[in-house]
Amino acid sequence: MTAAYAAGLFDVSGKRALVTGATSGIGRMIARGLAQAGVEVWAVARKPDDVERIVAELGGSAQGVAADVATDEGLAAIAAALGDRPLHILVNNAGTDRPTPLDGEGREDFEAVLSLNLGAPFLLTRKLLPQLERGAAPDDPARVINIASIAALHPGPLENFAYASGKTGVAMLSRHLGRHLAQRNISCNAIAPGLFPSRLTERFLGMGPDDEPPKAFVSPLGARAGTMDDIAGAVIYLSSRAGAWVTGVLLPVSGGVSTVS
Ligand SMILES: NC(=O)c1ccc[n+]([C@@H]2O[C@H](COP(=O)([O-])OP(=O)(O)OC[C@H]3O[C@@H](n4cnc5c(N)ncnc54)[C@H](OP(=O)(O)O)[C@@H]3O)[C@@H](O)[C@H]2O)c1
Repeated sequence: MTAAYAAGLFDVSGKRALVTGATSGIGRMIARGLAQAGVEVWAVARKPDDVERIVAELGGSAQGVAADVATDEGLAAIAAALGDRPLHILVNNAGTDRPTPLDGEGREDFEAVLSLNLGAPFLLTRKLLPQLERGAAPDDPARVINIASIAALHPGPLENFAYASGKTGVAMLSRHLGRHLAQRNISCNAIAPGLFPSRLTERFLGMGPDDEPPKAFVSPLGARAGTMDDIAGAVIYLSSRAGAWVTGVLLPVSGGVSTVS
C-alpha cells in the first residue's frame, strides 16, 4: 500500500521529454533515468553519430535530433522534428565551459558560453511553447527543467567567469519563467548539480568517471561524484505529480557543496 502510493506519486511513465546534451555526462544520465521510468525521450546533441548511439542505448520509443541549440537553425530543427506532438518535460541541459581568465583577452569565449548556457534554455523554451502548452494541464503542468550549477551559488576556485555568471542567470531565468509560464500551466525549475563525471569535468579537472573529486570539490556528504540516481531522481521528482506544485526553485544536487562557501 505504502509502496504503491510512492510509486504513483513519482510515476512519469507515458510522458514525452526532450533532453538537450543527452549524449554525454549529466544529460545522458537524465535521458537514461527518464527512459527507464517509462518516458519517451527525445535526445538532442550536435554529433549525429552520438545521437544515434544514445537512441539505441535508450531503446523503446526514444528519438533523436542532431541539432545545435546555440543556433536558430538548430532550434527550428528541434521544433520541426517534434511537430505538433505534446511535450511534457523539457530539460535544458546542454552546456559548456571555456576558460575566461582575468588575464585573458577577447570576447569570443565569454559570448559562446553565455549563448549556449543561458541563451539556449530561454530560446528553446520559447520555441517549444506550442508543444509544451499541448502537454500542459492545470493539475499536471508541463515542466521545464534547466540545468544550472552550484557555480550559481558561490564563487568557485576556477576563473570561469562566463560560466558562473551564466549559471547564475539560469537560476534567475528559471524563477522568472516560473512566474510567467504558470498562467500557461507550465512550471520551470532549475537544478544546481555539484560534480558529476562527464566530458566537461574530464577536460577541466582531469576527473574520470570513477575518480574521487579533487579536494576543492569534496562534498560534506562524502568524497564521491554525483551519480545517475542522484540527478535522474531530482528530474523525476520535478516531472512527477510529487513536483506538480513546485515552480521557480533552484534545487542543489551536490552532496551539500552548496552549504559551504
Ligand atoms: N558535470 C558536472 O560536474 C556539472 C556540474 C554542474 C553543472 N553541469 C552542467 O550540466 C550540463 C551538462 O554538462 P556535462 O558536464 O554533462 O557536459 P558534457 O559531458 O560535456 O556533455 C555536454 C552535452 O551537451 C551537448 N552539447 C554541447 N554543445 C551543444 C550544442 N551547442 N547544442 C546541442 N548540444 C550540445 C554535447 O554533445 P555534442 O558535443 O555532440 O553537441 C553533450 O551531449 C551543463 O549545462 C553543465 O554546465 C555539469
